[in-house]
Amino acid sequence: MSSSCTGLSRVLVAVAAALVSSSSPCPQAWGPPGVQYGQPGRSVILCCPGVSAGTPVSWFRDGESRLLKGPDSELGHELILAQVDSADEGTYICHTLDGALGGTVTLKLGFPPARPVVSCQAADYENFSCTWSPSQVSGLPTRYLTSYRKKTMPGAESQRMSPSTGPWLCPQDPLGAARCVVHGAEFWSQYRINVTEVNPLGASTRLLDVSLQSILRPDPPQGLRVESVPGYPRRLRASWTYPATWPRQPHFLLKFRLQYRPAQHPTWSTMEPTGLEEVITDAVAGLPHAVRVSARDFLDAGTWSAWSPEAWGTPSTGPLQNELSVGSQLHMLQQEAVAQEDSPTPSRPSLKPDPQPLDQRDPLEQVAVLAPLGIFSFLGLAAGALALGLWLRLRRGGKDGPQKPGLLAPMIPVDKLPRAANLRTQENFS
Ligand SMILES: *[C@@H]1O[C@H](CO)[C@@H](O)[C@H](O)[C@H]1NC(C)=O
Ligand SMILES: *[C@@H]1O[C@H](CO)[C@@H](O)[C@H](O)[C@H]1NC(C)=O
Repeated sequence: MSSSCTGLSRVLVAVAAALVSSSSPCPQAWGPPGVQYGQPGRSVILCCPGVSAGTPVSWFRDGESRLLKGPDSELGHELILAQVDSADEGTYICHTLDGALGGTVTLKLGFPPARPVVSCQAADYENFSCTWSPSQVSGLPTRYLTSYRKKTMPGAESQRMSPSTGPWLCPQDPLGAARCVVHGAEFWSQYRINVTEVNPLGASTRLLDVSLQSILRPDPPQGLRVESVPGYPRRLRASWTYPATWPRQPHFLLKFRLQYRPAQHPTWSTMEPTGLEEVITDAVAGLPHAVRVSARDFLDAGTWSAWSPEAWGTPSTGPLQNELSVGSQLHMLQQEAVAQEDSPTPSRPSLKPDPQPLDQRDPLEQVAVLAPLGIFSFLGLAAGALALGLWLRLRRGGKDGPQKPGLLAPMIPVDKLPRAANLRTQENFS
């Protein structure tokens, strides 16, 4: 009688086990199979895998014969551990009375997720990336769910419920890199980034509002070169290019900042060049100079880039070139004009025209003369270039009809002008 009863119950258990074998009654946290998780100081309920809920099982620590819990308890297939600590971590074995069913469970302790620390950055005007780090080490397998949505402005009702506001996945590439990238973002839109840290003990979400135009930080300019200008012991010409990550486009140009200092000089002098090159006119003759540049969106969105690596150059010590003779003549004219003013203050001796070749004089004096000469030759050249450019464009304009570029074009590359300004100058011209 009793044996038939146990036989029946065995059959029932076997049937029940077969029914549930595909779906274990133990809630499976994601992570390696057979591992269950708890938090130090809290109680943990271990669940015997491979048996149906309520089936009486015995529990042991792996490698110990001491019975932790007999099969008589109300709890059936579960084991409660109160106030666990690290000594409770390890492997547990459970099995049914006859030993036919059961399994092993490994207990691992750690902490629930905490809101991650998130920051976003953009090195160009249509893509941005967000990076994150845990604000607390959980000690548990962790993953991050990353998404974003476009924020709607209060009052913009038409956008409410619009599918174009997301949320969309912020793809993590490569997976596990703690970084996700949003491609093709709108420059002026606000986005809400959702980075949710998930581990077997829960989930915790950090939301961050970003807009491209506030997080924009270009990469530093590239290809910085510093060259001497033959015949000019106080000049250096620096040139550079756009960072490769910033495709040039009329509405998204960069402006630049240049710094230079002579060797062993602690302080930098700063200039704000308009184009991709600049001539330094007050370098210290004979000394090597360090030069560096940084870039920023030309309408001041975001922040300045980091400084480029320094490039070095030493002003020319070679002989003067023909170019200077134009400057010398201008300089002489200016001296005459000054003399005619009959000023009571005597003109500075170093400004007097000197019949000696410049490169035989005292270097300091040379420098003092060369600075005004340099300015005049530059102005002369600029005026010449402007006149020539104007003439060429007028001539070309006669053939091209309405395609004439703006008056400012000879001075500023056409793509430097905002489109509106460009159109405006074209209108004036035609
Ligand atoms: C944005 O990212 C895409 C894909 O990497 C790239 O092709 C595009 O040039 C980027 N846009 C800008 C403005 O750099
Ligand atoms: C953030 O993302 C998580 C995971 O995808 C989601 O459960 C949660 O609802 C999101 N929170 C908000 C405010 O969008």
